[in-house]
Amino acid sequence: MADSKNGYQFATWTSFIAESQIRALLKYTVKYYFAGGKPGIIPTDIFAKILGDLSERYSKDPEMALDDFNYGPTGGQPWFLKTLAKRLHDVRKIPIDCESEWECVSITSGSQQALYAILDTMVNPGDVIITPSPAYLGFLVPAVKLGARVITVPTDLDGIIPEYVTKAVQLSGIKFGKTPDILYVVPDSDNPKGTTLPQKRRQELFDICETHNILLLEDSAYAEIQFKKTPKPIKVLDKDNSRVAYLGTTSKEAAVLRVGYSVLPPNVREEVLKDKGYLDLCTSTMIQRVLNEYYAKHIDEAMRVGIPRYKKRYEAMAAAIDESFPAGERTDPTGGFFIWWQSESKSFDSGAFLEKTAIPNDLLYVPGKPFYPITGYAINDSGNDLIPSMPELNTMRLGFSYVTPEVISEGISKLGHLLSKEL
Ligand SMILES: Cc1ncc(COP(=O)(O)O)c(C=O)c1O
Repeated sequence: MADSKNGYQFATWTSFIAESQIRALLKYTVKYYFAGGKPGIIPTDIFAKILGDLSERYSKDPEMALDDFNYGPTGGQPWFLKTLAKRLHDVRKIPIDCESEWECVSITSGSQQALYAILDTMVNPGDVIITPSPAYLGFLVPAVKLGARVITVPTDLDGIIPEYVTKAVQLSGIKFGKTPDILYVVPDSDNPKGTTLPQKRRQELFDICETHNILLLEDSAYAEIQFKKTPKPIKVLDKDNSRVAYLGTTSKEAAVLRVGYSVLPPNVREEVLKDKGYLDLCTSTMIQRVLNEYYAKHIDEAMRVGIPRYKKRYEAMAAAIDESFPAGERTDPTGGFFIWWQSESKSFDSGAFLEKTAIPNDLLYVPGKPFYPITGYAINDSGNDLIPSMPELNTMRLGFSYVTPEVISEGISKLGHLLSKEL
């Protein structure tokens, strides 16, 4: 397209923030799709039934229909928040009374909106936040866009390492004269690494945040999709709902209807909902009705069927990596959608390999690079200074959620063969 001649001056961020790499990869249609965190097992039969039943109810009850096809409260409809509060209490063990405390639950347009709105309400340019290295790019990029200084903290096969979080807090004070505002973690089957934080680390992270008055942002996107028993949410430790912002999403455990849910400390909730009020006024009431039916009546059955199927996909991917990949290390998720692989060869560039070899062979994954901030800080080897954070280019995120075990086995073997030729 020819250059626009309209002379518009765009906001500064547009010149340094690129389109999300995962969104950009959506343009490719490949047979072996290991890229975005797309759910491949959605209980569409259940949703078809819910929609059929609702359609009858709407025909018989025009008043209900008028309400459901209308604007509603910014934080969500009380009947839906009560249903979510019950699930959070009964299954996730979050200490909220469903009858009297349901108002501490809110919904947003996807948990993505909650991530954005929390950053938007907590962070002034120059403020500090702490994330694992690597971290979910949907959190990292808005943080950089809003001018946060991102300190990335080393991770191992159990996720973020608390000793380094303490170091990051100290270095933030020394270097920037600031206590970080937010510590961001995905405790269960992290995106992108797929790691799960053990109980001891959860407690340590909570304690660090208590000591330094940092908001612990617990993104539990994959908490329901677990193949093994995992520790309880960090939110369980937050008895008076003051320290942990707990986020969930319907996207992975229901369907991608763009609804996230959260339990936020009251003062955070107030500001986040103020922000949401200007971002989208409210979330669709009709979609809340559909999801309310799902969470009230169908989720247990859907999870009973869905989780073993996801587990088979994970097993197919893990086995094929172990059999066919060259020297490197992979994570071993307890659930979720992703395995993270790092080549032993430091000079391997998974982004260049994607363009040159993987895509022409009908294969798609997400290279590691976008999971590191475009500008940010890392802790140096001796742990006493901050240095610019650098992406580890020899890494890749492999998603097992979308295609069948057969396609996974075939595609990962093919990828392994191509990698072995390259390395
Ligand atoms: C860790 C994590 N958080 C948040 C999201 C956003 O989810 P949604 O906006 O669909 O609720 C995702 C999506 O992939 C994710 O992986």
